Amino acid sequence: MTSTPATQGTGVAPGLLILYSTTDGHTRHIAERLQARVQALGGAARVLHLPDCTAADLATASAVVIGASIRYGHHRPEVEAFIARHQAALAARPNALFSVNVVARKPGKDLPEGNPYLQKLLRRIAWRPQRLAVFAGRIDYPSLGPLDRTMIRVIMWMTRGPTDPRGVFEFTDWARVDAFGETLARLAAGQNR
Ligand SMILES: Cc1cc2nc3c(=O)[nH]c(=O)nc-3n(C[C@H](O)[C@H](O)[C@H](O)COP(=O)(O)O)c2cc1C
Repeated sequence: MTSTPATQGTGVAPGLLILYSTTDGHTRHIAERLQARVQALGGAARVLHLPDCTAADLATASAVVIGASIRYGHHRPEVEAFIARHQAALAARPNALFSVNVVARKPGKDLPEGNPYLQKLLRRIAWRPQRLAVFAGRIDYPSLGPLDRTMIRVIMWMTRGPTDPRGVFEFTDWARVDAFGETLARLAAGQNR
């Protein structure tokens, strides 16, 4: 998946670079919402699909955030590979990381310190992001293949979530996404709050 022309922002002051790693597109929607919030506050922000991000993109960013979703217990391999390859550039500017998963619909697991996937990723990387967030994702049963649909329904049944195979369930708290957008706008502006 590539970013749309509207979100590429080529030729404008890059400001905050919002990188997303996604399977089904929901993390891109969150990235675009963050971008909209930063822009509404007068900041510059660019959204880019993480695999398309080059060293030059990072070098011209005044701040960077990486967002990545979970599938069967793991962020996509591209996330750790990117972080390992670009760790110095990430650490050289204000930086942040967020994870998207459905476990985060549960109280406590919606916090960085309580979310097992974000904690696992942090244990596996040397980069120490300055800001962290976790957002609950989305389950679109009709769009899934039969095996994935069955697997997710079983997991949801075990964790007391919705199992209607005709349902689309969005757990994302967009107010929390907006609040993180405000945090990122301050971070990108060099305000350490
Ligand atoms: C096949 C599949 C496997 C998933 N596995 C997990 C999982 O192990 N843990 C979890 O919390 N969420 C899991 N999810 C939920 C996703 O993280 C959620 O749907 C998220 O919104 C996906 O974001 P994306 O569209 O950016 O990839 C899974 C979703 C699917 C479709």
